[in-house]
Amino acid sequence: MSDDPREDTSEGERFLVIAVDGPAASGKGTIAAGLARHYRLPALDTGLLYRCVGVLMRKAGEDLDDEAVATAAAATLTADQLEDPALRTRAAGELASRVAVHPRVRAALLEFQRTFANQEGGAVLDGRDIGTVIVPDAPAKLYVTATPEVRADRRWKQLAGQGEAVAYEDVLADILKRDARDGGREAAPMRPAADAVLLDTSEMTIEQAADAARRIVEAARARWLKAN
Ligand code: DC
Repeated sequence: MSDDPREDTSEGERFLVIAVDGPAASGKGTIAAGLARHYRLPALDTGLLYRCVGVLMRKAGEDLDDEAVATAAAATLTADQLEDPALRTRAAGELASRVAVHPRVRAALLEFQRTFANQEGGAVLDGRDIGTVIVPDAPAKLYVTATPEVRADRRWKQLAGQGEAVAYEDVLADILKRDARDGGREAAPMRPAADAVLLDTSEMTIEQAADAARRIVEAARARWLKAN
């Protein structure tokens, strides 16, 4: 028997890996969680890994530009650390984007993500480089976008809901800065994989975006099942 998890599983379910990439507050997290529920797949929000490294560095008073220290922090991460609500704050997003520029930090987090992606039965992962670097052979890839203004509005409402009072203009400035850093870095820059389907959610409700995402995955899944 082959070790390849893409073989049929005993339940007759087929292996399905769904890669969901896109910029901050594009809706990719909500879409990924919805797909995971729909297909009953485990989900990994890979942004949490970088957020955790950033927060650990800040707590320890370390310099975020110190690649060696950041890499050591990344190497010690465990799955239970990702549950910390402190990782969901605006500040944690900024710290994450800063440590995510380091190639060795990215390398230290690679195996955890690949192992998650390759578990039997499949998985949904969302991030910036899932379709390009982490699982380049994922059968279903989405790149979720929305205009910076729409994303800033969504993030602002989300932060307000978490009790984090912040001006809309500041959230928009954060988003533009993060887009520039995440897309401009040399190591695994944020960009759509050549075979990703673009989903612009600017004019969509959450339900519409979730429906559109499911249709994209259904089409990809049908193609993949036919070919395998
Ligand atoms: O998706 P998020 O906002 O939680 O991500 C936080 C930061 O982490 C993001 O600005 C860049 C980095 N990140 C990354 O470089 N690669 C990923 N796969 C996920 C996140």
